[in-house]
Amino acid sequence: MQLTKKLIVANWKSNKSLAEAEEWIAQFSQQERRSEYEYVVCPPYPALVPVSRQKESLYSVGIQDLSAYGAGAYTGEVSTPNLAGLGVRYAILGHSERRRYLNESSSLVAQKIETALESNITPIVCIDRDQFQDQADQIDKSFYEKIIIAYEPVHAISTFGGHEDPIAVTLEAVAEVRDIFGSVPVLYGGSVDPNDSIVYLGEKTIDGVLVGSASLDAQKFAQL
Ligand code: PGA
Repeated sequence: MQLTKKLIVANWKSNKSLAEAEEWIAQFSQQERRSEYEYVVCPPYPALVPVSRQKESLYSVGIQDLSAYGAGAYTGEVSTPNLAGLGVRYAILGHSERRRYLNESSSLVAQKIETALESNITPIVCIDRDQFQDQADQIDKSFYEKIIIAYEPVHAISTFGGHEDPIAVTLEAVAEVRDIFGSVPVLYGGSVDPNDSIVYLGEKTIDGVLVGSASLDAQKFAQL
């Protein structure tokens, strides 16, 4: 797949009450945004309803996970039929926090990719450098051209230390991703904030950023 604009993806993780989410949307609508970017907001599920009810088209709507199953007896899961009518366009899948804290396996992530694609939701698949090939091997090769990859070194994620690699190391990893997946869009994530976002967004081979802590503040997010 090819993106027409670089993606700026907000991953709120398990942050924000409903009221805080509404406040964020109101603030974001007042910020100057850059037309060369597509903003994507991935809230926790309860905030999906207000996030999806934007009056003007401020951003695209995404989710942070998805059930591998359809509607039915899967207690606690959120299935694609549950999401109907909410305009969800993207799903972050296989985030390293889910792999680490919830033991999410690459084969489960692969099933979720299939489920998302069946519902026309574009998967943003997070992969780890030391396991690029293993994680890729679990994914049906016919899906490679339909997904977006997010390269997030675990040590660079703000809550795991926030140690960003030199850009040359990141570009090497991005090239490795394309050696495996072909010409997929690749996002970078890990402590991106308004002070350094241009380091990544200024690179031709990086198609956008996946942003955790800096996305919690609407003003900061708009400044990326
Ligand atoms: P961070 O999170 O920007 O807070 O490092 C990124 C992520 O985990 O997606």
